Amino acid sequence: MLLKEKNIIITGSGRGIGKSIALACAKEGANIGLVARTRDELNEVNEEIIKLGTGVKVSVQTADVTKYEEIENAFKAFYEELGEFNGVIANAGYSRMWDSHDFDSNKFSEIININVSGVFFTFKAAFPYFKKDNKSDKARFIITGSAAFTNPMPKFAAYTASKYAVVGLQNSLALEYKKENINFNMILPTMVDTRLARGRKAGDGNKPPNVMDAQELNDYYIFLLSGDANRIDNALIFTNDFDEVKKLLSEAPSGKNENWDVFKDYLEENSPNTYANVKKLGKLIDFIIKIS
Ligand SMILES: NC(=O)c1ccc[n+]([C@@H]2O[C@H](COP(=O)([O-])OP(=O)(O)OC[C@H]3O[C@@H](n4cnc5c(N)ncnc54)[C@H](OP(=O)(O)O)[C@@H]3O)[C@@H](O)[C@H]2O)c1
Repeated sequence: MLLKEKNIIITGSGRGIGKSIALACAKEGANIGLVARTRDELNEVNEEIIKLGTGVKVSVQTADVTKYEEIENAFKAFYEELGEFNGVIANAGYSRMWDSHDFDSNKFSEIININVSGVFFTFKAAFPYFKKDNKSDKARFIITGSAAFTNPMPKFAAYTASKYAVVGLQNSLALEYKKENINFNMILPTMVDTRLARGRKAGDGNKPPNVMDAQELNDYYIFLLSGDANRIDNALIFTNDFDEVKKLLSEAPSGKNENWDVFKDYLEENSPNTYANVKKLGKLIDFIIKIS
């Protein structure tokens, strides 16, 4: 088990990507703090964790990430029930699609509030409780970003702006807390089969082929929370780069895909752009090879 007895808090963990991360972390032995606004969904996730039979502790709190007092109270309760935090995943998010000139102004603000202020409030509320005393086992703050950063989407002005903004927020936090034992990293998925992307059709078995399952993201979060990522800071993990890495790993001749050291030349030769994007993330590629 890679996360035995670690305390991991996940916002937006009632469904979708956050739920999937919560189950994956519990399978790896972590105690879990679940938080979102809908208690019924959180309770269902808790039930599913109990059914895994790993015996991990779970704390369930409802809070709106845009209301600082609520998130502050939830994190205090997590600390009291679980202890210091090894990892916090700022994952709660929201989106709506509209012609920009018609975009409902309140909705625009709501999206920015959840996706940007919500991440900041999550960090601020978590900060006093991070386990920051061990250089060889740093605390992790992980943001669920989006491939909308670098690939802006028309009609998604608020969402796109918010996902650009959280990259700036991460850069700023990583710089400011460089001397603390906290790492800041982001996972930037393309489309995922969740309510945010597919509304009530999420999980209906008819997702378009380019849409990922939430479970396909688990390994990135587990890696960033694991000992292997202790020295990874301020990274942006674009899932489409790693789809290409996985494809090339499967195509590479034997002797070229056993570890990052032997694979990197093959990757550079066959996909120079991907190589340029992932070359500082050799540890993640080793992790992917190790678990496959
Ligand atoms: N799905 C995609 O295609 C995709 C692609 C790239 C990135 N992402 C990112 O992935 C993250 C998770 O989204 P998802 O796709 O898993 O969507 P989802 O299935 O709709 O889940 C969103 C989660 O966030 C919670 N949430 C929303 N607003 C909240 C608030 N104000 N306070 C507290 N919790 C709140 C929701 O619970 P409540 O409503 O009960 O609060 C829910 O648990 C988001 O940051 C999103 O931007 C998604």
